[in-house]
Amino acid sequence: MTTDKPPAVNSDPLISTGHDSLDAHSAIPKAGHLPAAQIRQMLQQRWGDALLERLHAIGRIAANLGTPAYLVGGSVRDLLQNHPTPDVDLAIEGDVRAVAGACSAELSGVQCTYHPQFGTAILQYPDGFQLDLARCRIEHYPAPAALPEVQPGDIQADLIRRDFTINAMAISLDPENFGDFLDPYGGSEDLQHNLLRVLHPLSFLDDPTRILRGLRFAVRFQLQLETDTRGLLEEALAQDVFARLSGARLWRELKYLLELTDLPAALEKLGAWQLWTLLRPAPLELEALLARIRRGQQEIKWFHCHFSGEKLLGAAVLLTILWRDVPWAEAEKRLHYWPLAEGRHILNDLHRLSEMPVALAKASRPSVVARLWESLSLPGMLALWAEYPETDAITESGRYYLLKQRGLTSPLNGKDLQAMGLAPGPQLGKVLRRLHDARLDGAIKDKETARQWLIRQGILPAIQP
Ligand code: CTP
Repeated sequence: MTTDKPPAVNSDPLISTGHDSLDAHSAIPKAGHLPAAQIRQMLQQRWGDALLERLHAIGRIAANLGTPAYLVGGSVRDLLQNHPTPDVDLAIEGDVRAVAGACSAELSGVQCTYHPQFGTAILQYPDGFQLDLARCRIEHYPAPAALPEVQPGDIQADLIRRDFTINAMAISLDPENFGDFLDPYGGSEDLQHNLLRVLHPLSFLDDPTRILRGLRFAVRFQLQLETDTRGLLEEALAQDVFARLSGARLWRELKYLLELTDLPAALEKLGAWQLWTLLRPAPLELEALLARIRRGQQEIKWFHCHFSGEKLLGAAVLLTILWRDVPWAEAEKRLHYWPLAEGRHILNDLHRLSEMPVALAKASRPSVVARLWESLSLPGMLALWAEYPETDAITESGRYYLLKQRGLTSPLNGKDLQAMGLAPGPQLGKVLRRLHDARLDGAIKDKETARQWLIRQGILPAIQP
């Protein structure tokens, strides 16, 4: 089953090429109408018998309830391209709760979690695999960049509400026509021609986040903006569409962007799409900036490799790198709107980073070096290393701090010092800090050497036991 709805932007007719057999080596099948048999073969060859059987089972259960089920969105796109799909998304024309409940009752070991506020459900299989179910819906945008109003709809409505043709395809799971391919806007053909195309002229105005989603898809799948879509992007930017978007929604998309492995390519595209201003003024020396970004990514990897349990917001490292050569106010202006807990630290680091290399070079003792590193946040530290080669003394000193110095503590704590007769108060704090420095400098290593050191410093009387 396919529909004949004319695409609003894509005026090309869907082409049936007649090349229906699936070539296991060519990821994207020939464009146009894909017969159900070919889709079934693709599901079986690319996703395997076990998942295929699960889809059949859900299709049967949904059909018994009179609520057809479809594979939709990114899952279909990924299937056609033979890319691993992070989530398998199903759209249900009807009551999601009923379908999910019946699946968990009828399928051995399957558990369902229903989220009434979103009308979605998750099916969890005993082997850890999960499927996401959502109700087919109509979306209406009450104002540009506002969140959509949602009401139940059929699969056709659910496809037209979507962002790009490549995400507006579905596969029927109904037992009567399992594998029927719905591609009303020519998504498979666009995939084949590496084109990113919106479904209607208001798409970017309705939801400006789609511009950044599109950029991510363009980088991930090496797509070009289709000509009309490029025009719509330019129009949306001329209308300053991002100004209407909340800081939280904008930051969410930018964070996804910064997390891309292929961030350098994404930043190049950001420039090509005239979007630099979302992050910073356009760089004069792009190549140098991209080299620092690559180094930053390398350092983030290094950190996760050595401190796997420790939290680090990689996006904060990359933002710090991106903002190093722009006026501080440019960063401050953006962080004012973005809900980024690390924002205060980033601004502090941006102040401190310039003086770090000279201060480190002048540092005479390990404790001084450690205190300097301590004055930066983790992201700030890694951002500084990204300005130097991996073998540079600055990177080595920073890594040494994290690996060796950061965990060193004074062998004596406040209680120990009080037991030795020192009075509580600010003076005690100073002594503890000096002990910590002495430990960093290798002057003490345990309680006994610390006690002797305190005596040598005149802090404890020599007769102390
Ligand atoms: N969608 C949309 N507009 C948005 C966000 C999402 O139209 N602003 C639609 C798209 O059709 C998308 C689907 O909702 O396919 C699911 O969104 P999401 O899970 O974010 O994307 P996927 O396409 O599944 O891609 P990914 O592989 O990145 O998860």
